[in-house]
Amino acid sequence: MKGIILAGGSGSRLHPLTLSVSKQILPVYDKPMIYYPLSVLMLAGIREVLIISTMRDLPAYKELLGDGSRIGMTFSYAVQDKPRGLAEAFTIGAGFIGGDSVCLILGDNVFYGGQFSALLEKAREQTEGAVIFGYPVQNPKSFGVVEFDKSGKVLSVEEKPDKPKSNFAIPGLYFYDNQVVEIAKNITPSARGELEITAVNQVYLDNKQLSVISMGRGIAWLDTGTFDGLLEATEYVSIIQRRQGLYVACIEEIAYRKKYITADKLIRIASDMKNSEYGKYLERIAGEMS
Ligand code: G1P
Repeated sequence: MKGIILAGGSGSRLHPLTLSVSKQILPVYDKPMIYYPLSVLMLAGIREVLIISTMRDLPAYKELLGDGSRIGMTFSYAVQDKPRGLAEAFTIGAGFIGGDSVCLILGDNVFYGGQFSALLEKAREQTEGAVIFGYPVQNPKSFGVVEFDKSGKVLSVEEKPDKPKSNFAIPGLYFYDNQVVEIAKNITPSARGELEITAVNQVYLDNKQLSVISMGRGIAWLDTGTFDGLLEATEYVSIIQRRQGLYVACIEEIAYRKKYITADKLIRIASDMKNSEYGKYLERIAGEMS
């Protein structure tokens, strides 16, 4: 399975802020925002990732992440020149996806929780059709909304409905089989002029190939695509990290725990940043486990 991170471009509601920090990567607490979605793909066991961003921001991502070999991953890059919608990720990424299945994650979505890896495994187990998630929120009108029955069967999906049929928002994390490339090519723009991911999900639903996994209590899904959301995520990550002494979305730690890199490699990475708390943390992890 391949992974795509859509970072910037479509759906970025932080535009004035990202412009003011042009050529820099926006952080959430102590690390670049993109580490959060990247860590999710890594936890799902995905090692080949395409990063899609704007012409302006892509060089900064390339400089930050390189070809991925530092952490045993493979990264490639592509431009979305206009915010034409999330579903365009699959046409931009068609060559990268090839004949494979694909997981799309939005660059501003943060997930955290003890049971989260198990949910990712469950999503990957399904090899046909599409898997989305449902997450209870107080303001479903701001999101894609999924309605499902007691047996977990999806009844409807709607993009930012005026009258939501449930309080389950659809987070920006989607698993698709290879049909998604063809489906994405054939959808038409919505009233807001975007190729909506909800339109892709609607096709899977019409074909009776859409499943939903409910994310209940105990999992944090934070959308950092608004100023308040960004502040909340920063506070959340700082609270967890300082309380537990364990980092959220530490990509080097995940690479090590997944055996993509050796302890020696982790120590070398740590020594490159030994003056920072982040470097000291990596040193500690390497020491604890070797
Ligand atoms: C997008 C999707 C929406 C989804 C949300 C999650 O919204 O269109 O279905 O619930 O991401 O973050 P947007 O950020 O484009 O407003």
